[in-house]
Amino acid sequence: MILITGGAGYIGSHCAINFLNAGYEIAVFDNLENGHIETINTLKTIGKVNFIKGDLKNREEIRNVFKTYNIDAVIHFAGYIEVTESVQNPSKYYRNNIIGSLNLFDAMVEFSVKYIVFSSTCSIYGDAKYTPINENHPINPINPYGKTKLIIENILEDYDKAYGIKSVCLRYFNAAGADSKIRLGETHSPETHLIPNILKSIFEEDKTFKIFGTDYNTPDGTCIRDYVNVEDLAQAHRLAYLYLQGNNKSDCFNLGSEKGTSVKEVFDTAKKITGKEIKYQNAPKRQGDTPILYADSSKARKILGWQANKTIEESIKSAYEWEKFLRQ
Ligand SMILES: NC(=O)c1ccc[n+]([C@@H]2O[C@H](COP(=O)([O-])OP(=O)(O)OC[C@H]3O[C@@H](n4cnc5c(N)ncnc54)[C@H](O)[C@@H]3O)[C@@H](O)[C@H]2O)c1
Repeated sequence: MILITGGAGYIGSHCAINFLNAGYEIAVFDNLENGHIETINTLKTIGKVNFIKGDLKNREEIRNVFKTYNIDAVIHFAGYIEVTESVQNPSKYYRNNIIGSLNLFDAMVEFSVKYIVFSSTCSIYGDAKYTPINENHPINPINPYGKTKLIIENILEDYDKAYGIKSVCLRYFNAAGADSKIRLGETHSPETHLIPNILKSIFEEDKTFKIFGTDYNTPDGTCIRDYVNVEDLAQAHRLAYLYLQGNNKSDCFNLGSEKGTSVKEVFDTAKKITGKEIKYQNAPKRQGDTPILYADSSKARKILGWQANKTIEESIKSAYEWEKFLRQ
């Protein structure tokens, strides 16, 4: 059985669908702080799902999962994800992301579970020294969120040497889009991600989309990011698990579309796809936003056999359908 921590959240639940479609039985462990019970109910209509409501910060709660179920591997999504909040309240991030992960890894050691796929992030690279960013780019996270992810990667390296736990760290760029059958999608609260925020400005009277910074050194002055479809990301986790089984060796991979798209381009594409006028205003730059960030994912292509197949248009389209579904 595959244990998915944080499987009631955005990327974890799409990954759960991928494993269920491939015939695996899964256990989802989530405290539902930022995940949704409706998501679990949806997953249960797709395949064999065992849901355990629990908190990784509680050692016994996660140990009990390994006691109860025969776990073959862990896919670890659970954690806090907000960069700005992590700057304001680093204690919350270090406690949850690091202590939670340690409790999980210690339970793996105790119950002899060898394989883990971990949700890391391109934030560990900090400001881009060059683009596209490959795995050899200098590592220098500039906020507590990114630092927690780097510390967890380091812990995994040490747990491999000492206890033989093999890990794949997947460093995602910006996850985007929804399940193509619109059973699940992105529902963060507060929502800080670009595409849902653009789309919410269509539906919500009091919401105006803000473009943070229009004088960056980029062709149209707005920040450039790499949007990678959530179903493509989900697929990478299963390939990473197969890689661990086949090679019994730890590694890390960047997961991105390898295309940079500016905020203004995403906004214009959303207008075209939805056929709607979208309220917006220009706003000052946010501290710590680096102008251009996009991935070189050739290592994942060569070693995992993974590549991003879906376009940004497809991601915006499914995200729009999801926003409509939420309002039915
Ligand atoms: N969304 C992105 O673009 C992106 C980019 C890079 C990396 N990531 C990483 O991917 C992972 C998933 O991101 P997401 O967007 O799906 O976030 P999310 O908030 O939707 O999902 C995280 C889930 O973890 C659960 N959780 C948090 N702390 C927990 C704890 N202590 N015990 C049990 N459950 C806990 C939450 O309830 C939530 O369901 C995160 O680790 C995030 O850092 C996300």
